[in-house]
Amino acid sequence: MGLNTMRLAGKVALVTGAARGIGRGIALRFAAEGASVGIMDLDAAACQAVVDDITRKGGCALEVHADISDPAQVEAAHAKLAERFGAVDALVNNAAVMPAGALHETAIADFDRCLAVNLRGTYLVSRALIPGMLAAGGGSIIHMASITGLRGLPGIAAYAMTKGALIALTRAMSTDYAGRGIRVNSVSPGTIDSPMLHDFLAAQSDPDRLRGDFDAMHPIGRVGTIEEVANVCLFLASDEASFVTGSNYEVDGGLSSKGEQPQD
Ligand SMILES: NC(=O)c1ccc[n+]([C@@H]2O[C@H](COP(=O)([O-])OP(=O)(O)OC[C@H]3O[C@@H](n4cnc5c(N)ncnc54)[C@H](O)[C@@H]3O)[C@@H](O)[C@H]2O)c1
Repeated sequence: MGLNTMRLAGKVALVTGAARGIGRGIALRFAAEGASVGIMDLDAAACQAVVDDITRKGGCALEVHADISDPAQVEAAHAKLAERFGAVDALVNNAAVMPAGALHETAIADFDRCLAVNLRGTYLVSRALIPGMLAAGGGSIIHMASITGLRGLPGIAAYAMTKGALIALTRAMSTDYAGRGIRVNSVSPGTIDSPMLHDFLAAQSDPDRLRGDFDAMHPIGRVGTIEEVANVCLFLASDEASFVTGSNYEVDGGLSSKGEQPQD
């Protein structure tokens, strides 16, 4: 496939939480479609490993590590990215943490960290990039939400709260920027086969049974893949989605549409 037929040819992207899991998958996919991609995560060496993966495959990427909850780190990383690639066309606010527990069981430090990363981090990274996007005539922002922002699921109250907030933020931001060229959408995955899921399962008493339950919970009959989330992000980042803003895309195998079968 020639360069000019790639879906993100000539575009600059930034993906947060891109050192592993879904963020890494999005970064690899965007780079394969011709984007120059900033790899943002906590650990510089882990970011660089993704850059090296992308470079080996003939793509273009830059390590821009930062704790997204820290304004100074975000500004420094953004300055590095802007100097190398210019304004960002596509931002994926993907980094998140997921403390477990019902609300009263969630430690204050974990609650605060969840808000600091999932919400403050999204704010800080967006705030840093939007002026450049506006000056360049527009862009696409994708917030990584979750099925937990739409449906009640037990044991992850603080996390679910932030994911619901990201869906509200998507709507609010889309109205602020629709007339100025920036599209803002969110993606709400169901359960995805990822390191986050593996970590969660490893901490349970019967991981195999639980994994089966997760598969069965989704009407399609299995959990999703990282690539299936990356595909939707690719569409939203590309010009193919030029009339799409303020939307939440459920990538959940039908989970959010499922009703309950009445029991006898
Ligand atoms: N895996 C799932 O089943 C699932 C389902 C729905 C939504 N999601 C969402 O998808 C996104 C990615 O999930 P994942 O499964 O790949 O998770 P993950 O834990 O594998 O990856 C998250 C990445 O974010 C990074 N990160 C955490 N705090 C950060 C910070 N302060 N600054 C910079 N980077 C930071 C981590 O280092 C990690 O590399 C998250 O927003 C998550 O909520 C995941």
